[in-house]
Amino acid sequence: MHGLSRWRVSSGRKEEDTRAGQESLTVGSWRPTISEVHGLAPHGQAVRSIFVFCSVKESMRVLFVGDIVGSPGRQIVRDRLADLVAQRQIDLVIANGENSASGFGITPRLAEELLNMGIAVISGGNHSWDRKEVLEFLPHEPRLLRPANFPEGNPGGGLYVGAAKNGVKFAVLNLQGRVFMTPIDDPFRKADSELARIPEDVDFVLVDMHAETTSEKLAMGWYLDGRVTAVVGTHTHVATADEHVFPEGTAYITDVGMTGPHGGVIGMDRNGIIAKFLNGLPARFEVATGDVQMNCVLIETDDDGPRNAAGRIRARAIERIRLHID
Ligand code: FE2
Repeated sequence: MHGLSRWRVSSGRKEEDTRAGQESLTVGSWRPTISEVHGLAPHGQAVRSIFVFCSVKESMRVLFVGDIVGSPGRQIVRDRLADLVAQRQIDLVIANGENSASGFGITPRLAEELLNMGIAVISGGNHSWDRKEVLEFLPHEPRLLRPANFPEGNPGGGLYVGAAKNGVKFAVLNLQGRVFMTPIDDPFRKADSELARIPEDVDFVLVDMHAETTSEKLAMGWYLDGRVTAVVGTHTHVATADEHVFPEGTAYITDVGMTGPHGGVIGMDRNGIIAKFLNGLPARFEVATGDVQMNCVLIETDDDGPRNAAGRIRARAIERIRLHID
């Protein structure tokens, strides 16, 4: 229509509309509540994009980095994490680090190294106790978790409460399964008691369920649907393709996968593992080489929608991300 231009109000994050002959006007929040309103302006041919002020908070983007194995795993995190955080506008990074010391455990020095890379909280698992020097360190570094359902009196804790760099309060709970693993305390009832300890003003809650079987992890996902923002599985080191958001708003994946070398068997040199299967003799395993990957999930929250039954933010999406060393 001659002499008229179209006005558009878009939803989504702040963006630049740089198309020639068009004009962008950003006047407010990165999370407008109005979406795709089209109209006609009584002058000119230019298309204008208007972003409307509103009071809602920016959505939260949380990256969970799957089990970091040995020096290759630490190296790819060092090389790739900062760019990923910048490119995807990530507000909070959490990682499982129980295999970061040559595949078995984590040391105080390596924990500090990972924290200095931009990881806010490091979760653990069955290997959390492998390095004896970490036992004295655990009570002094609350950002280094071990599964909460180990016996009372063990060093450290399995729950961390903090604030992301965008100011949003969050909590991370680390649990361990019992099927084909050490028969520790019930992770389901431990989840109940630990979640009850999280303050009401915490918006985002993530659970790392470190377990061997898909069924135990999936059961935990359903058990916590509507009570936490995300349940992510770790330990098996093989990424699963079942990431989704449960009906009550909890993001879920059975296993995030491994951050480390995929040229072996779940991070260890394949020749030693094959020999172990052939002869059954005790063996010393070395970290594998080749095909180093960083496997992660990116969880995006739904700040516009209603809170879940526990008053936490619901997840809107969960996305698998796999990076390779070039
Ligand atoms: Fe593990």
